[in-house]
Amino acid sequence: MKNYIRLITLCGFMMSVGLTSCDDQTESVMYTPGNRVANPESLSADECTIFTSSNMAFDTPSDLIEGELMDRFLRGDALYDQPRVASPAELEGTGGLGPLYVGFSCTSCHTGSGRTKSTLHTHGGTGNGFSAQLVFIKSQNGQYFPEYGRVLHDQAIYGVQPEGRINVEYTEKTHYFSDGESYSLITPKYWISDWYASVIPDEELVMSVRTPLRHVGMGFMIAVDQNEIMALAAKEYPEYNISGEVNWVYERGMRLMGLSGHKAQHADLTVELGFSSDMGVTNTRYPDEVGKDQSQTTQDFGIEISTQDMADVEFYLMTLGVPARRNVKDPEIVRGEENFYRAKCNLCHTPTLHTSPTPVQLMDGTEMTHIANKTIHPYTDYLVHDMGPELGDDYDQYNATGDEWRTAPLWGIGLQKIVSGHTGFLHDQRARNYVEAIMWHGGEGAYSREVFSNMSKEDRNAMVAFLKSL
Ligand code: HEC
Ligand code: HEC
Repeated sequence: MKNYIRLITLCGFMMSVGLTSCDDQTESVMYTPGNRVANPESLSADECTIFTSSNMAFDTPSDLIEGELMDRFLRGDALYDQPRVASPAELEGTGGLGPLYVGFSCTSCHTGSGRTKSTLHTHGGTGNGFSAQLVFIKSQNGQYFPEYGRVLHDQAIYGVQPEGRINVEYTEKTHYFSDGESYSLITPKYWISDWYASVIPDEELVMSVRTPLRHVGMGFMIAVDQNEIMALAAKEYPEYNISGEVNWVYERGMRLMGLSGHKAQHADLTVELGFSSDMGVTNTRYPDEVGKDQSQTTQDFGIEISTQDMADVEFYLMTLGVPARRNVKDPEIVRGEENFYRAKCNLCHTPTLHTSPTPVQLMDGTEMTHIANKTIHPYTDYLVHDMGPELGDDYDQYNATGDEWRTAPLWGIGLQKIVSGHTGFLHDQRARNYVEAIMWHGGEGAYSREVFSNMSKEDRNAMVAFLKSL
């Protein structure tokens, strides 16, 4: 506790001398300590808010992190960024990749701790077909295919064949707002080619294509006050056809509140799973190589990353600061914010939540006191909602059906373009910009979509300006 108070004092000192953790590279935004006090609504995560809108905005620790904590943050950050190679690696701590994998580092899919633009095979991809997406596969009866496992591994080390390739074809259709202005949506059709072993026929396959999630407020998501989330789940808005649900998941033999992932299908930050399933780096929680039963992947190098290293990566994720909102007093943004409430977006994209007073623990038992008891503005309820069949796939996870998705947290969304270089949104990046993301909302989101669709062009633009300020 003593440490904590000292850190806050230091943070106050840094603020008072106008220091921020990282240079602000966009001209339109100027932060001053005064601005910070004058606009409390710009503080996304209390004193863990950071004041940078550069491409480092998702990759900067909060001001509470310094000294030994900063050393640990940097260690976790380096492990997160480290491209892995196949074992045995010359440099310690860089091996373990594959034999089957999807990305070669956490950063490869989470550029700048954000969302790498997906490049699917049919659209050129990179030379080796790296897609930066996860493709979950299972059979119609809910079982994983013994030859392939849970995720399609579209990359492999030298001498091993990838499990298959994900392909997409888009159908583009023009639609009209009520004022006559047009917009278009592209509907993806996915299929898998180049299966390394037996071909799984389309009619036997259930798949879900997922884009990486931005690492904005990871610690706060895990530390959130679960009673507050349950209270939100208990609310029903029949007049708008909105009612969210907790996705209760089973992990480590316990029934837990699902928070992370596009269907809130995990209770933790999936660090061990990321190393194992996405990169092929075995660890104590997942000691088996992915595809260990395939005849082509027989070598065994034992455990390839220590729990200490993974806990450092988890520490890094949990200590990232959350970027402040920008230009909150701009009249267009204020109007957009009013429209956000008018369209009832806030009933799912909940502006304000709190973290629990009881600190959460890292996998090595470290207590994360600095993120406990905070007021946060994640713009999500962390609940799953039925968003209609157009957005759905048939892939259910625990009590989230194929059509249900976790409300996407919107904090930091306005900086995705700067951090990751694109505005691909929704669970598979099918939306190419903010307007398309809204116009894909069906099911429980249909009321909001209709209100938006019937707004004047100025009001629609204001809504987008508001989203860009988050
Ligand atoms: C192949 C690309 C890829 C790689 C490599 C990858 N991820 Fe991810 N990550 C994803 C995708 C896709 C999702 C969303 C999937 C889902 O719905 O569960 C995701 C989700 C997450 C989430 C959940 C965020 C949230 O808001 O719920 C965290 C945390 C995360 N990844 C951390 C990591 C870490 C740590 C590593 C490295 C050990 C890593 N990822 C490696 C693609 C990747
Ligand atoms: C019924 C709950 C609900 C309502 C109401 C709702 N949303 Fe969403 N929103 C979601 C869910 C769930 C997703 C994720 C869908 C997916 O990934 O396919 C989402 C995704 C988004 C995204 C994409 C985020 C990203 O990172 O990819 C944006 C932008 C967005 N919503 C804005 C809005 C706006 C603006 C409104 C009001 C006009 C609104 N939403 C109303 C539930 C809702």
